[in-house]
Amino acid sequence: MSGKEFFTNIPFLDNGTKRFISELNKLSDAMKNGEGRQYVVFTLDFLHDYTEKHLLDEEKVMLKYRFHDAEYHSVQHDEFRRDLVKMTEEYAAKGADHGFPLLVQRSMASWLARHVGKADKVLGDYIMAVIQKSKRA
Ligand SMILES: [Fe+2]
Repeated sequence: MSGKEFFTNIPFLDNGTKRFISELNKLSDAMKNGEGRQYVVFTLDFLHDYTEKHLLDEEKVMLKYRFHDAEYHSVQHDEFRRDLVKMTEEYAAKGADHGFPLLVQRSMASWLARHVGKADKVLGDYIMAVIQKSKRA
């Protein structure tokens, strides 16, 4: 997956998305090689970094640019953070059983489809419009 359909032309958003897709691809490759259960802990590490840094950066930018849909957007971020807490607790309790890498992979694919490809694109379009407006002013 290259992820072009998810890009917004706002570099910080697209860099976050590129990294996310790259980590999803790494997990998928490990699963194909029968190494998903060993590899998935690295994916969890990445997801902690992504939720702590990238999602927070988005939230700061939404405030800075007075994004109209910031509240709903942040609610979705919090849902993803909660999913990650659940997965992390599951991993801490019993490690990666057979189905666990698939659970993480599905959660990431779902996040791409229902948030990155939708809400993040709306945010990207909004930031682009604000930047272009400020260039004209
Ligand atoms: Fe977002």
